[in-house]
Amino acid sequence: MRYPDGILALVTGGAGGIGAATAARLRAEGVRVVTADLAPGADVRLDVTDAEAVDALVGRLGRVDVLVHSAGIVGPARPLAELGTEEWRTTFRVNVDGTFLLCRAVVPGMVRAGWGRIVTLASIAAKEGNPAQSAYSASKAAVVALTKSLGKELATTGVLVNAVAPAAVSTPMNAGTDPAVLARSQALTPMGRFARAEEIAELIGWLCSEHIGFSTGAVYDASGGRATY
Ligand SMILES: NC(=O)c1ccc[n+]([C@@H]2O[C@H](COP(=O)([O-])OP(=O)(O)OC[C@H]3O[C@@H](n4cnc5c(N)ncnc54)[C@H](O)[C@@H]3O)[C@@H](O)[C@H]2O)c1
Repeated sequence: MRYPDGILALVTGGAGGIGAATAARLRAEGVRVVTADLAPGADVRLDVTDAEAVDALVGRLGRVDVLVHSAGIVGPARPLAELGTEEWRTTFRVNVDGTFLLCRAVVPGMVRAGWGRIVTLASIAAKEGNPAQSAYSASKAAVVALTKSLGKELATTGVLVNAVAPAAVSTPMNAGTDPAVLARSQALTPMGRFARAEEIAELIGWLCSEHIGFSTGAVYDASGGRATY
């Protein structure tokens, strides 16, 4: 894939799963990558809900040409009536506030440079609303709307903003998921299997490249045929 020379990519959630696979994919193309995560294993420790820490990291990096915002949590997997207020808010803080804070920090530099790529992580849950995952589904729907809004806002700047909406992917995020929920997801997927993180990284890598030119504010499907729009 083709990328501009000398660019720097920041990949949040880069300690594992889709983030780590994306970092590896970009590095394989010669792109300089900094991974950031709350968990050990990333280049930098970062809590994406901490506005000051996010701004400080972007300031330290000096330039961020590509943002892949993969940090996220699945949140509580229970009926809505049984959710605690804090559980709901935590899911939104990580998935929605985190997306806002990262985008807010990197956008001015990208606009100044006249080139940038932002890829956010939505989910099939944003489109369908997974049962017993109301906080996650609603938070990912917010990520979709933020992505569409920002994509339009930056449409003439050279900065393209797109989301990827996977169905279930074999990553640590699903390690603790109720097997019945995973079985339901697999049964709904025409390909009859989960995605590999590398398959999602391939799509993200393309969305970060120079091969994409006329798409922004869009939601790219990676659902094994499950999504109908
Ligand atoms: N795995 C799936 O089935 C699936 C499906 C659709 C969408 N997604 C989305 O893709 C993204 C990546 O998921 P994944 O499957 O790689 O999950 P993952 O759990 O393997 O990776 C997510 C990473 O985010 C990090 N993280 C969580 N909270 C953080 C915080 N406050 N600050 C910094 N880092 C934090 C975690 O430590 C983890 O390394 C998520 O946004 C997720 O919602 C995943």
